[in-house]
Amino acid sequence: MIRVLFVCLGNICRSPMAEAIFRDLIKKQKLDGQITVDSAGIGHWHIGSDPHEGTRKVLDDHNVSYEGMEARQVKESDWDDFDYLIAMDDKNVQDLNGIRENKDVTLSRLMDYVPNAKEKEVPDPYFTGNFDYVYELVHEGCTRLLEEIKQDHKL
Ligand code: 4NP
Repeated sequence: MIRVLFVCLGNICRSPMAEAIFRDLIKKQKLDGQITVDSAGIGHWHIGSDPHEGTRKVLDDHNVSYEGMEARQVKESDWDDFDYLIAMDDKNVQDLNGIRENKDVTLSRLMDYVPNAKEKEVPDPYFTGNFDYVYELVHEGCTRLLEEIKQDHKL
């Protein structure tokens, strides 16, 4: 099983959006028996919360399910339990590196998988309010990430 964890600051806007989109892509490509997905936040503020209403709305608009998802915080065992830690911005990467290191785990930014991406970081819609733009970026990032994982693991 290939295990992917998306990480942002609060785990209510960007990383749950990525988790929901990625799960949808995996399911549509019948890869749900080979890849698992989860998301977590650096901060503890929203533990147990549903995704932000802006994230829920844009996922509803695109018919992507977020059923049963609730926010949790990153924990040290995530470095044992996941193969990919996919961060939304540079600060997430910096924070993750400060929590633990494990050379067996791939730590990268979602937009690193998009060639010539117009943004290298996914801007935080909690502050910008622009959930539609973030959906566009996250969808592109997730699509490219899945292609890379399929190539690397010959799926
Ligand atoms: P996220 O957005 O990292 O994309 O989930 C945020 C949500 C909440 C907060 C910050 C960012 N906050 O400070 O509560």
